[in-house]
Amino acid sequence: LILTQDDLKKIAAYKAVEYVESGMVLGLGTGSTAKHAVARIGELIQQGKLKDIVGIPTSKMTHEQALSVGIPLSDLDSYPVVDLAIDGADEVDPYLNLVKGRGGSLLREKMVEGACKKFVVIVDESKLVNHIGGSGLALPVEVIQFCWKFTASKLQKMFEESGCEAKLRTFGEKKEPFVTDNKNYIIDLYFKKSIGDLKVASDAILNLAGVVEHGMFLDMATTVIIAGELGLTVKNK
Ligand code: A5P
Repeated sequence: LILTQDDLKKIAAYKAVEYVESGMVLGLGTGSTAKHAVARIGELIQQGKLKDIVGIPTSKMTHEQALSVGIPLSDLDSYPVVDLAIDGADEVDPYLNLVKGRGGSLLREKMVEGACKKFVVIVDESKLVNHIGGSGLALPVEVIQFCWKFTASKLQKMFEESGCEAKLRTFGEKKEPFVTDNKNYIIDLYFKKSIGDLKVASDAILNLAGVVEHGMFLDMATTVIIAGELGLTVKNK
């Protein structure tokens, strides 16, 4: 039996849904891993095995999927404390720091996941890294559209010593700018060398006017569930 990467994502997602109990306010993540968790929660609600669930979606896409599988939805204005959030990640380091936002939903994810008592991250083993920002994948930064080139060049300068390249995220053949749910752009930062202390890097990025949020989720995950060829690993903070 050969498991595909999608099988592994599903295995991790189903394991995370075991943490869900009736009556919970749930943060619903975004992406190809989290969508399996959303589908499973909907299934358990339909089967009557989960009751009185309130879902707080982290993107418009998840909002639509959750409605389609019958999860009652609300938002942080009505439920400022979230019991449990389940979401994927692009990178996970040994201290359970994350990079998120390859799907572009980092801002709402950070708001919802920052408001939750437990944050369970679900990944297949390909997401494990030794150092955040060192996998060759992007660190996404959500910026306002106004003078985004100015903001991008400031970001690139900020990480000059790390060999940073800042690129506007685009989509489609016409290379149109990718627009987030919040009507902002994404600047993807690629590094050739270490970005050094993550907290220092995080603060510096957030300090720049024009930046709305970035995809480093430091010290937020309480549990990471990793699905690999050899089975499941659960890491707790
Ligand atoms: C969405 O913006 C992201 O933060 C996703 O949660 C993250 O990119 C993981 O996505 P996949 O599960 O599709 O890899």
